Amino acid sequence: MKPTGKIIPLMVAGGIFTIIIGFVLVVLMISWFSNPPFGLGNASAQPIAFPHTVHVVDNNIQCEFCHRNVTKGDAATVPAVEQCLFCHKDISGRDRDAQSEIAKVQQYYADGEPIDWERVHRLPDHVRFVHEAHIRLFTSQLNPDDAPRFDINGKPITQPYAITETCAICHGDVGNMEEVQPKQGQSLKMGTCLDCHRVNNVPTDCTICHK
Ligand code: HEC
Ligand code: HEC
Ligand code: HEC
Ligand code: HEC
Ligand code: HEC
Repeated sequence: MKPTGKIIPLMVAGGIFTIIIGFVLVVLMISWFSNPPFGLGNASAQPIAFPHTVHVVDNNIQCEFCHRNVTKGDAATVPAVEQCLFCHKDISGRDRDAQSEIAKVQQYYADGEPIDWERVHRLPDHVRFVHEAHIRLFTSQLNPDDAPRFDINGKPITQPYAITETCAICHGDVGNMEEVQPKQGQSLKMGTCLDCHRVNNVPTDCTICHK
């Protein structure tokens, strides 16, 4: 009997098996952590420290002035660097920190480079989301013969929401955020979408949300 004859190939095979399993686990972990579900994890650092507070609260710029497609189509869209230059041709910042961040914006523009913003919210590719339908419904006047509307907690809505209030349903109070993070305690997983659709009598066929 020469046991090593069989054991060594077995050990090699076992090693390869362990490596494959390990590899699969690593890939799964990476895809989980690089695309954390809503409400979990923190967003990665942005290429420019863009404070919503300074723009929305201090300077009263409307959400839809920058997120131009939010009342028109599927994606809200993030402004292109040209739109930043609309103001930052002239506005260069009141202190050193603001000036150095704004100088970066101007440099992107001069180089003809887009700013690679990190996405904070992202659904898997097989899911369809439409901003326009949600904004329209919650901000429009409620007529007596309209079906009743309910918020995300199932409470009846009696007055139309302001745009910022509508965004806050799913994104929290972004206007007061230095850095956008997913809304605390919010999970826009399928169950949350379905809960709100059900109370509002929106059809819940799979194909409404899945391509
Ligand atoms: C001056 C332009 C500007 C205004 C005004 C503005 N935003 Fe933004 N917004 C941006 C930019 C640039 C980003 C991308 C960088 C970041 O995430 O901070 C962004 C990111 C976001 C994101 C995260 C997008 C993602 O990746 O998931 C949300 C949500 C958002 N804004 C909501 C709002 C809301 C709500 C308002 C109004 C209360 C608003 N924004 C006003 C420019 C603006
Ligand atoms: C409608 C005008 C307007 C637009 C559009 C605009 N900004 Fe601003 N931004 C301002 C004003 C006003 C300030 C405050 C300047 C100050 O007081 O120093 C400011 C300040 C800043 C600051 C410095 C923040 C701080 O800490 O004070 C950064 C960075 C900045 N903006 C980036 C951007 C980027 C990136 C875009 C495009 C996505 C953009 N801005 C679009 C008006 C605008
Ligand atoms: C009913 C929930 C809901 C409401 C209300 C809502 N959003 Fe969103 N938002 C989402 C979801 C879900 C995503 C991710 C979409 C995806 O990955 O396809 C998203 C993504 C975004 C993004 C980044 C990607 C993009 O679409 O360009 C921005 C910016 C944004 N929202 C801004 C806003 C603003 C501004 C408002 C209010 C005017 C708003 N959202 C209202 C759910 C919502
Ligand atoms: C706060 C309640 C609420 C939440 C949360 C919500 N929805 Fe909706 N959604 C609605 C209502 C109400 C309508 C119907 C709007 C109308 O009548 O046009 C709708 C319509 C839609 C439509 C159809 C739009 C069209 O015109 O084709 C899609 C797709 C959709 N939602 C996807 C989603 C997804 C995906 C999520 C979760 C990420 C989500 N919704 C979360 C309330 C909600
Ligand atoms: C109102 C919108 C909506 C409807 C309707 C909907 N889904 Fe989803 N679904 C989502 C969203 C958003 C996600 C991604 C977030 C998540 O994983 O929960 C998702 C994810 C999934 C996933 C992947 C889950 C995972 O863990 O990765 C499956 C499978 C799925 N949906 C099946 C269905 C089936 C089957 C139906 C019909 C019975 C359906 N969905 C109807 C919004 C919806």
